[in-house]
Amino acid sequence: MKEKYCRESFVVKTSIVLPPDTNNYGTLFGGKLMAYIDDVAAISAMRHGRKSIVTASTDSVDFLHPIFEGNSVCLEAFVTYTGRTSMEVFVKVIAEDLLTGDRNVCALSFLTMVAIDKNGKPTEVPKVIPETDEEKSLYETAKDRATNRKKRRKESEEFAKKYGTDLPW
Ligand SMILES: CC(C)(COP(=O)(O)OP(=O)(O)OC[C@H]1O[C@@H](n2cnc3c(N)ncnc32)[C@H](O)[C@@H]1OP(=O)(O)O)[C@@H](O)C(=O)NCCC(=O)NCCS
Repeated sequence: MKEKYCRESFVVKTSIVLPPDTNNYGTLFGGKLMAYIDDVAAISAMRHGRKSIVTASTDSVDFLHPIFEGNSVCLEAFVTYTGRTSMEVFVKVIAEDLLTGDRNVCALSFLTMVAIDKNGKPTEVPKVIPETDEEKSLYETAKDRATNRKKRRKESEEFAKKYGTDLPW
């Protein structure tokens, strides 16, 4: 399978924050931003793998700055690292005050997307080649993040077993 450059999976999505997507403080609703993050990560992973994908996990999303109504919100995403069937996608969210030009990185996230075949089974994806300093640094640190996710997945599975589905409804 031919290796691909990070830039080949690059996705940019910019939109303006309008009232239907804000909370009662006039800032972008967190759930909406998380949906945007998942969207761009999914497109990026499909560009890399050219296969159907599912989201296996999202690392924590820290909302570093509020995004106000009337701001633009720009999401950038690309595949930073791959396993056999999984792809780590880095997503950066930048808000801009369109009247002043002030910009803030409002959120960062890493998602793991898994390529699946026609039967819904995980299937192989190409390796990724980092080129820029940012891509290289994200690539070099990805193995540690993947190890942490494996540990977290195991803990989640144990929690799921422990608490089960046995509730009163
Ligand atoms: C993700 C999923 C396809 C994994 O399938 P599986 O049969 O358990 O397969 P595996 O254990 O071999 O995992 C496949 C790959 O996914 C990775 N993976 C699985 N769960 C993961 C998790 N929670 N976090 C990070 N990576 C994960 C594995 O490390 C493996 O990577 P690799 O092939 O690069 O080494 C399966 O658990 C699934 O379908 N989950 C639901 C996905 C979904 O519905 N997403 C939408 C959310 S509403």
